[in-house]
Amino acid sequence: MSSFKLSSVTAAALAAVLASPALAQPNPSLLNNKQAFIADLMRQMTLEEKVGQLRLISIGPEMPAPQLAREVAAGKVGGTFNSVNRKEQRPLQEAAVKQSRMRIPMFFAYDVVHGHRTSFPIGLGLASSWDMDSVRRVARISAIEAAADGIDITWSPTVDIARDPRWGRSSEGFGEDPYLVSQLARAMVTGFQNGSPAKADSIMSSVKHFALYGAVEGGRDYNVVDMSPMRMYNDYLPPYKAAIDAGAGGVMIALNTVNGVPASANKWLLQDLLRKQWGFKGLTVSDHGAITELMRHGVARDEKEAARLAIEAGVDMSMADQVYTAELPGLVRSGQVKQRDVDNAVREVLGAKYDMGLFHDPFLRIGKAEDDPVDPKADSRLHRAPAREVARNGLVLLENRNKTLPLKKGATIALVGPLADAQVDMMGVWSGQAVTAQTVTLRQGMGNALSGQSGKLLYARGANVTNDPALVEYLNFLNWDSPEVTQDRRSPQAMIDEAVATARQADVVVAAVGEARGMSHESSSRTRLDLPESQQALLKALKATGKPLVLVLLNGRPLALNWERENADAMLETWFAGTEGGNAIADALFGDANPSGKLPVSLPRSVGQVPTYYNYPRIGRPFTPGKPGNYTSQYFDEPQGALYPFGYGLSYTEFQLGELTLSNRSMPRGGKVEASITVTNTGDRAGETVVQLYIQDLAASVVRPVKELKDFQKVMLKPGEKKTLRFDVTEDKLKFYNARLEYGAEAGDFNVQVGLDSQTVKEAVFELK
Ligand code: BGC
Repeated sequence: MSSFKLSSVTAAALAAVLASPALAQPNPSLLNNKQAFIADLMRQMTLEEKVGQLRLISIGPEMPAPQLAREVAAGKVGGTFNSVNRKEQRPLQEAAVKQSRMRIPMFFAYDVVHGHRTSFPIGLGLASSWDMDSVRRVARISAIEAAADGIDITWSPTVDIARDPRWGRSSEGFGEDPYLVSQLARAMVTGFQNGSPAKADSIMSSVKHFALYGAVEGGRDYNVVDMSPMRMYNDYLPPYKAAIDAGAGGVMIALNTVNGVPASANKWLLQDLLRKQWGFKGLTVSDHGAITELMRHGVARDEKEAARLAIEAGVDMSMADQVYTAELPGLVRSGQVKQRDVDNAVREVLGAKYDMGLFHDPFLRIGKAEDDPVDPKADSRLHRAPAREVARNGLVLLENRNKTLPLKKGATIALVGPLADAQVDMMGVWSGQAVTAQTVTLRQGMGNALSGQSGKLLYARGANVTNDPALVEYLNFLNWDSPEVTQDRRSPQAMIDEAVATARQADVVVAAVGEARGMSHESSSRTRLDLPESQQALLKALKATGKPLVLVLLNGRPLALNWERENADAMLETWFAGTEGGNAIADALFGDANPSGKLPVSLPRSVGQVPTYYNYPRIGRPFTPGKPGNYTSQYFDEPQGALYPFGYGLSYTEFQLGELTLSNRSMPRGGKVEASITVTNTGDRAGETVVQLYIQDLAASVVRPVKELKDFQKVMLKPGEKKTLRFDVTEDKLKFYNARLEYGAEAGDFNVQVGLDSQTVKEAVFELK
């Protein structure tokens, strides 16, 4: 994610470029006919120029600046990523459109994942809001901020279904459920592209990681994926498809294998499924270095074979490896790779640039030098108010015994914990352009809330995130500028003593605990899901003071919170809430906002129980409580089921559901049944909740899940207010892929389940005729 100063070196580099004798030009008279325009360009391109378009450079050590400018002017680069500064991009674009023979513009990419200058909550936090308008707004603002920095395309959203919390990238995606993740995928793509990636304040969305990356074995990053086709089609593929149907212009290919063949060499995946079955018309991009990795996977003998496999499979653009550049021209000339395969890839790259609006105006997002922001990192460029609102929306209240929350603003509060004042962590990972110093910690947020109030905020760190030096070293290994995790050098006991003494002076203790952000990241898989020992020891000592204990959790994966559930008086899951995280969490803690988030993942009891997803297929001996050894499916050393189920989340008010009624007990083909239910706010505060509709196919040709989310509505109710919600259950909601991968609904009974989480539901049955 580092960047460098280009402008000082570019002029010299460009001057060194010889003017080409035969200047070609994009033909302006064809500009409004995409296919003809691109065909005309391709007719004029040399093989080397074509291969140049397939090359995506990661700015940084891979390519020194002077060399990059030369290569662009020579027509050897299609796009770059990791520069986020119009000043850096302008000379490169000038080299492309004024110096290179074909005048083809570059594109500039970046990982705009949960915000850009403003950091919004991480994927799991966004998903916890179950609020698609809010998520669309996040993507819209991210696009506006990124486009203003000259970015044309984002490697986002991540829509990998993740059912194994050991996987560090659980944090990036939207959880375990195909339907919810699909809705989020659509909202993100719509927000980024806003009707057209050609608009100046839109960016193209490149959905990732295609496909099945979240299902890496054992949750270990980059591991193999082996999965039945039925599970693939029903559970893991729908979110990518939803993003594509929403118009995503790009697809990033996953690093993993898909049933024995790496995704980057997988013809079935990239052609039969993506292009033929789904009709995808956009650009495919390899993940970082993935084509070279075909050799490590052991499917390519050498670079030649790696390049051939990837281009034949349908990898249009190669990210950050030189295999295409080095090998494709020779392979085509010797007849080992068909010109047609290269041409197909080039057409997609040019097509994407066309769709981004770059042929109409290569400087669409780079603008004029005089309009460059004086300080790209200026606070005035942030969207703080929406960031705070969105962050509030995604907070999940897991416990609230004796109405411990909201806190009173007249109280003395002891704020402790390694994450209480942690700016870096609050931003979450993949927030490369968010500025640490602009991020509001919980300590700052609570301080803001208490300013002018009689309450007092005491603070003690209490513990390091971990005392394990090897883990600290791991978390700090990539950070060139400053260490990601800083250790307090006092002894663990001294820190705990200070925290306990602080707690004793307070009416209530708020402990901010969880993970350092890097613990939930790419290549950060864990074998344990509990809080690190240093923090467990702190919590036990705090508990022993007898003061009410509120836990604020900052973490990027589902954690196993058994002790915490038993011992905390209140518990708020905040994930990593972004730039305005501290203010948003303080809003919730003091009751200025009423939590309404719902879990987009099941929280497990232990690693041993993983996977703990709610929509598991039925089995012949489901767990039935009863005498020990009753030969039903269970772990004998632990209670069954999730610690907190998918869809769960409390509020400061109470909601009650009435009876579920169906408009009809039978549904004709192509018809619908209306399910209605009344939800009442029976508490004394206004609040929002999410009413969730699940369906179970009671008997089918293949084993179906115990339930599947098919719809939901988020409603705001005043105290005492009630609303009757109606859900249309259509035949479409009953469809699935059977053993022959035919998609359809099978006649028979369906059990409709409506609840405020996935576990406690009202039920009613109808029959599809
Ligand atoms: C990640 C991608 C990311 C790319 C570029 C890779 O290591 O897997 O998700 O988009 O780097 O930063």
